[in-house]
Amino acid sequence: MKHLINILDFSISELDELMTVADDIIDNPEKYSNICNGKQLATLFYEPSTRTRLSFESAMLSLGGKVIGFSDSNSSSVSKGESLADTISIVSGYVDIIAMRHPIEGAPYIATSKSLVPFINAGDGSHFHPTQTLADLLTIHRTLKRFDNLKIALCGDLKYGRTVHSLIDAMSRYENNEFVLISPAELELSPSYIKELEKKNIKFTVTDKLEGSIDDVDILYMTRVQKERFDDIEEYERLKDVFVLDKEKLDTAKEDMIVLHPLPRVNEISVDVDDDKRTMYFEQAYFGKYIRMALILNLLGLSDNKTLKDKLHYTPDNTFKNCIITEKVCSNNKCITKFESNINRYARTVDGVEMCYYCDKEL
Ligand code: CP
Repeated sequence: MKHLINILDFSISELDELMTVADDIIDNPEKYSNICNGKQLATLFYEPSTRTRLSFESAMLSLGGKVIGFSDSNSSSVSKGESLADTISIVSGYVDIIAMRHPIEGAPYIATSKSLVPFINAGDGSHFHPTQTLADLLTIHRTLKRFDNLKIALCGDLKYGRTVHSLIDAMSRYENNEFVLISPAELELSPSYIKELEKKNIKFTVTDKLEGSIDDVDILYMTRVQKERFDDIEEYERLKDVFVLDKEKLDTAKEDMIVLHPLPRVNEISVDVDDDKRTMYFEQAYFGKYIRMALILNLLGLSDNKTLKDKLHYTPDNTFKNCIITEKVCSNNKCITKFESNINRYARTVDGVEMCYYCDKEL
């Protein structure tokens, strides 16, 4: 059984295979319309969503399957105090595959340690959002036709932006990619990501200016400053409109570049540029359904691809295989270890530093 928690759970060749299946679904949707007959997806959304939840549900319905779930955890027994571990133990007995969004970082590891069926992380707090990255990758694949030799500017909330974290992880694996990290100082990419880029000898620049930073980029990835992640609302108000992509700024960019945004947007992209042929955020959301169809098929072992089925990563028994139990407490107040009772704390060591296995913050 295979799960998707982190985009790195899929190898480059496995990602290529997902892209191939998604392309085929787009071209031949009828071929896939009954392939999930008798299968059920549970969408467990503990946080609001439009694209991710509805595209997962539309994906399963378009494959001939059925969907159950909740979009507000207050309507489930979570409101009575049921743990995440128990919720997953129960739901995984009802369905064939689960997609879960949770506000707490590392929550997916609790899920995979209990799930009887393949599990998909549909976003955990500020940590990861691997299926958004799949949508990003399919958009890049279908527009720029390559994943390497790209200059990628990431703009906005790089600190709390889970889509940014997963995209950097994904694009760092390809040859000769370069990043331009555009954010106010308060929302800079965290030091652990910077260290990783340095360790991998990946070229990057850090700036707090959008103007003058996008003239030669191939991809501009805009992000929303995320109100829901701020402890200090005044800081959010001060930072929320610091970058706005408008016609004037886009005029300085290359003709063959693309603008991506995971959406929802607030003010960071002016609606005036929506008609510019380089803006691809609505296509990106559209492609999200097809790559999620390919992912569901893959995790259910229903895609043509045999190699995917052969490469097992996580099972309920090996979620915590590569880490050690620790007494140390995670420094992150938004880590799942602060919210879920009766669980072990696990650590892994990176460059001699003990890190929380669940959320990747220092212990
Ligand atoms: N991109 C994204 O995750 O959108 P939703 O929050 O609407 O799912």
